Amino acid sequence: MPDEKKPYYITTPIYYVNDRPHIGHCYTTTVADVAARFARLLGRDVFFLTGTDEHAEKVVTTARERGHSPQEWADINAAEFVKAFDLMSIDYDDFMRTSQERHKARASAYIKQLMDSGDIYLGDYKGWYDPSQEEYLTETVAKEHDFKSPVTGKPLEERVEKNYFFRLSKYEARLHEALAKGDAGEEGGCRILPDARRNEVLGRLKQGLHDVPVSRAVKEGDADWGILMPGDPTHRVYVWIEALCNYLSAVDNTAAPSTVDAEGDRSRYWPPAVHVMAKDILWFHAVVWPAMLMAMGRELPAVVYAHAYFVAEGRKMSKSLGNFIEIDRLEAYSEWVVESERKQAEKEGREARPMGIDPVRWYLATQGPLGANDADFAHAKFVEVYNADLANGIGNCASRVGNMIEKYFGGVVPEASATNQDTQLEGWWQAAGGRVQGAFAQFNLELCTHLGLLFVNEVDGYINDTRPFSMAKQIDEDGVRERLGHVLYNCAEAVRIASLLLFPALPNKMAELWRAWDCSPLHDPADPNSGFKASLDELAAWGGAWSLKPGQKITKGPALFMRASVDEAHPGA
Ligand code: MSP
Repeated sequence: MPDEKKPYYITTPIYYVNDRPHIGHCYTTTVADVAARFARLLGRDVFFLTGTDEHAEKVVTTARERGHSPQEWADINAAEFVKAFDLMSIDYDDFMRTSQERHKARASAYIKQLMDSGDIYLGDYKGWYDPSQEEYLTETVAKEHDFKSPVTGKPLEERVEKNYFFRLSKYEARLHEALAKGDAGEEGGCRILPDARRNEVLGRLKQGLHDVPVSRAVKEGDADWGILMPGDPTHRVYVWIEALCNYLSAVDNTAAPSTVDAEGDRSRYWPPAVHVMAKDILWFHAVVWPAMLMAMGRELPAVVYAHAYFVAEGRKMSKSLGNFIEIDRLEAYSEWVVESERKQAEKEGREARPMGIDPVRWYLATQGPLGANDADFAHAKFVEVYNADLANGIGNCASRVGNMIEKYFGGVVPEASATNQDTQLEGWWQAAGGRVQGAFAQFNLELCTHLGLLFVNEVDGYINDTRPFSMAKQIDEDGVRERLGHVLYNCAEAVRIASLLLFPALPNKMAELWRAWDCSPLHDPADPNSGFKASLDELAAWGGAWSLKPGQKITKGPALFMRASVDEAHPGA
């Protein structure tokens, strides 16, 4: 079992800046954000890193086409990623750009270390290069695809170069060992998840490991873009190798400039708890990177998690189909004012509220390709899930409970009766609450989030069974007020606890609920990124220090999520 008090370092891939962000980038980053928020909720000291990978050759090409220098083009697009992640309410701790001096200096030191130890050497390379993906393919793979790019279908280039190589082959046995240890959950091992992906990597490992090229020759007229091989200005560090180094360069204080001076000592975060990415780049993360770390004498990431892909309305997203779900589309959802909200606002004489980004986060977090299979982003499904889980789920349940407390108890939290034997909701939580830690340790975010929703469903069932609205009709009869108070206290306390589990996916809306109910566990109730005052086991203790207090005021506030109809005008059109 991983140490539950250890610092928790989580990363996303660093994204190429030759293009604007789309749903795929937002998905991985949202998943990592949900995990980071869970970890913080569980009381862990979290460091969450994302960023951009800027030294790719295609950045130079695209920049040229657009009349920019590579740095200008990288600046423009890196800013788009920062904006996109703000829109998605991503609470990262650092955004690494590989064109930053701090990264370049540190990555260069790692490469030098590997050259000095003989793990990187100069040799001849003849191979099939895929310029669109910036990678070399093995002879077998090149042949299989008729010497065309398996991704874009463009012709591969046969290249012979003097190249630097990393002795990947030397680490084969130790990699096997580390992966086996990871499977067994042993300290120091590296675990590949989900299992289907692990099996693929193991299958490929069985074919044996070859040394991998880690440089490309500097050519006449090349833009000065990328890190030079230490001591050899005729070669540049291959972008992939340099990019992987970002995970270490962000938290390391052994290579100059030390993080101790620059960003504050972050060395306690190494090794990473989890690198998150999609299956396309698993090999680099599960094989090449751990071997590089072994060569450098560093500890390995505990988990490498490779999810599957998002597809759009049932079809793979591609440039040629032009069906990428761009960030603008996700933004349009966040600005969507649904019909029912427009009408309600008109009736109440207030400004209508857009749905905000939380429903998009929810869809990504709960319907996304977290496991081995691809998942679809389809408008009809978005509306269905939004209505079922959010409008009719947590939204409706919180409103129901808030409204009844307002109506029957003047908005004051009633007393839970000490003599009442009804502990159905408390009991549910006692039984289920213990599952959160274990699920999180397995990176089972779906279960963590789902538990919150299940608890809400339980409250709905409890309301239907206990019928507080009928009780209210006889409120002046003997003992009824007390019983009703007990029931509504239970409901409110259960919704409060459920909202803690829903927070990682719905940070803005749950912070809003906590403000209305005056029960925010955040340092600054207005800021969902301000951190928790206590950890989940204390916050979610039924009737504990953080529970709703009888006598405290709660405001019912506008509904958190208004129902949408699949037929109304929408951003997916
Ligand atoms: N720059 C490299 C990564 C270097 S990490 C040391 C790179 N960048 S990328 O911009 O192409 O991003 C790839 C990642 O974006 C995927 O691994 C995944 O995290 C995310 N996604 C891109 N398209 C995706 C989908 N269609 N669905 C889900 N995630 C996807 O590779």
